[in-house]
Amino acid sequence: MAYSPGLEGVVVKESEICLIDVENSKIYYRGYDLEELAEKSTFEEAAYLLIYGRLPKASELAEFKRLLASMRRPPDHVISIMRSAPRSAEPIDVLRTAVSAMALGEDLSDRSREAELRRGLAVMAAMPYVAANWDRIRRGLDVVDPPADGQAEYFLKVLRGGEPTPLQIRAMDVMMVVYAEHSMNNSSFTAVSVASTLSDMYAALTAALASLKGPLHGGANVDAARMIEEIGSPERVERWVDSALASGRRIPGFGHRIYKRGPDPRLKVLRRLAEALAKESGDSRPYEVARRLEEYVHSKLSGKGIFANTDLYASVIFKYLGLPTDLNLPAFAMSRVAGWIAHVLEYRARNRLIRPTEKYVGPVGLRYIPLAERR
Ligand code: CMC
Repeated sequence: MAYSPGLEGVVVKESEICLIDVENSKIYYRGYDLEELAEKSTFEEAAYLLIYGRLPKASELAEFKRLLASMRRPPDHVISIMRSAPRSAEPIDVLRTAVSAMALGEDLSDRSREAELRRGLAVMAAMPYVAANWDRIRRGLDVVDPPADGQAEYFLKVLRGGEPTPLQIRAMDVMMVVYAEHSMNNSSFTAVSVASTLSDMYAALTAALASLKGPLHGGANVDAARMIEEIGSPERVERWVDSALASGRRIPGFGHRIYKRGPDPRLKVLRRLAEALAKESGDSRPYEVARRLEEYVHSKLSGKGIFANTDLYASVIFKYLGLPTDLNLPAFAMSRVAGWIAHVLEYRARNRLIRPTEKYVGPVGLRYIPLAERR
């Protein structure tokens, strides 16, 4: 039996959701070029496409947005749990706990596609409420639930109060489109793996959130933001990178299991967006630090197949949007949830329990020594 460390190159399922064409530096959601979707669509449109398999008609999109808006406020017991959490709790942990708690009190015996889809959409709708209101709760403010046109605008309104600019809303929407899906990454695999046991959608999404948190996966967008803050200005990039590499540290926002021959295709879109936000804000330093990092790390590590990944510029964009650094991860999660739901539903349609194997390399036939005789 073949052994592939990190399951590199192992095909887990057949899928019609996302194609990563590394050779041509393209990503397709259900056949549509992600670059075009990022330019022309919204998160709700992309999420509909990923989950239902086709672009919505205008009336369907309006209905979908109405449905999400009607489900944003999670059940009262979830809000009570948020209120009782220690103020020091990590936002991603609060989000994971809230999603898990959404299952409480619901009859979960119906595992039909319709029931699981409804649960998935309830989680997707509630995520911006939970993430942004958690930030308010920990600052001693009460929860709010303002009207908003879509998930991106809603998140920014709750988080910052007041009205975000059109560019800020558009930037958040683009981030959410770009982060919504990326083939069989660790969190999508985790969601599918849990769903394959016929556990419920809440359980699958809770597990996916636990996976996303790790610094080798989604957590890199928090670490990248901290790195950019710590570096502070572009002239300090080289010294910082040299010293990090000399001490054997990995540079967050760089490297990818899939993109070893060239940069992530999403980078172009995000670089442009970060630049536009830098101009609007009047403070170009975070953007320039990221640019310089990209160039310098490229000169040092591209020979090893290490290029910038999306988390580098995502962290800059989120900074310009005013997110506290640790909200970067929930912002990623409330986008990727669309992909998780799509993968769970797709796998369930032809479900087979995921149960890999391992190669035992330990000893056999050891003699059992009674406890009193062990030294
Ligand atoms: N900085 C410095 N060296 C690196 C980096 C990095 N960011 N990434 C990989 N390397 C080196 C690594 O040390 C190893 O070197 P050597 O062969 O000398 O031991 C070599 O490159 C191969 O690394 P690997 O861990 O075998 O590669 P992988 O395909 O398993 O790792 C990765 C992919 C994303 C875990 C890794 O690149 C990494 O840790 N990056 C930093 C964290 C990060 O930005 N993660 C977000 C990735 S975006 C994808 C997602 O969210 O799913």
